[in-house]
Amino acid sequence: MEGMDSEKDGSGIDRNAPIGVFDSGIGGMTVVREIIRQNPDERIVYFGDVARLPYGSKTKDTIVRFARQITRFLRTKQVKAIVVACNTASAYALDILKEESDIPMIGVIGAGARAAIQATRNGKIGVIGTDATIGSNIYTDVMIQLRPDIQVTGKACPLFVPLVEEGLWHDSVTDEIASRYLNELKGKYIDTLVLGCTHYPLLRSTLRRLMGDEVTLVNPAYETAIELKALLAQLGLARDPQEPVEGEKYSFYVSDLAEKFRNFAVSILPGEVKEIQKINIEEY
Ligand code: DGL
Repeated sequence: MEGMDSEKDGSGIDRNAPIGVFDSGIGGMTVVREIIRQNPDERIVYFGDVARLPYGSKTKDTIVRFARQITRFLRTKQVKAIVVACNTASAYALDILKEESDIPMIGVIGAGARAAIQATRNGKIGVIGTDATIGSNIYTDVMIQLRPDIQVTGKACPLFVPLVEEGLWHDSVTDEIASRYLNELKGKYIDTLVLGCTHYPLLRSTLRRLMGDEVTLVNPAYETAIELKALLAQLGLARDPQEPVEGEKYSFYVSDLAEKFRNFAVSILPGEVKEIQKINIEEY
């Protein structure tokens, strides 16, 4: 079960190597943004699998196959640790990848669950995510392990990912769909809502307006970035800030549509995104 820190020790790993981060698409850039905020000295190699998204409607076998290919690709970039920024891949593939890996790997679900438990006052938490993430029940399982009396209501919001990837972040169509999805959660009197998909923070203002100010919105990316920082420090893998960076500090790779990705990436991370390279992920 995805959750706690990796147990790999950092011996033999180059602390000045980059961190690998991956997602099914643009959404993982919201995690990169938080990683940069919390870990400004670290180098990052990002992969967005835009050719094969959405992951949220795929089976476990397919998600694990994709995640393994991406892990192999990131290892060719000599990464020192990997953040599985995608909730869906964290839910289905992280435990398997961790067992196969000799470098530390973390996902986003343990961090998101812990943040929600800390935030709730009435013990009623909502989780929104892809069909696969909600179907896995992983957020509920992790939260109940942390606090057995917690009430968790999950709601799959499968149309959010295509709406975000199409750039409809502030649009009446998105408003209409979001209000249909969220109505069910409103009837459960939740006071905390986990944005359990990396794409959803890009709809934050819509979600905030529809849920009202009394509901705390939890973005697992924030806690994940803090968890990563603590893990790197604990393993002696934090980058030496005195060490000069050779080449780009941040590199971005996608499996398709590099130009479209670039336009979105620049709006999420202004100033940090230079070149985006398209690769054939099926080769890995
Ligand atoms: N961004 C991914 C997540 O966090 C999933 C989006 C997709 O369905 O590909 O769950």
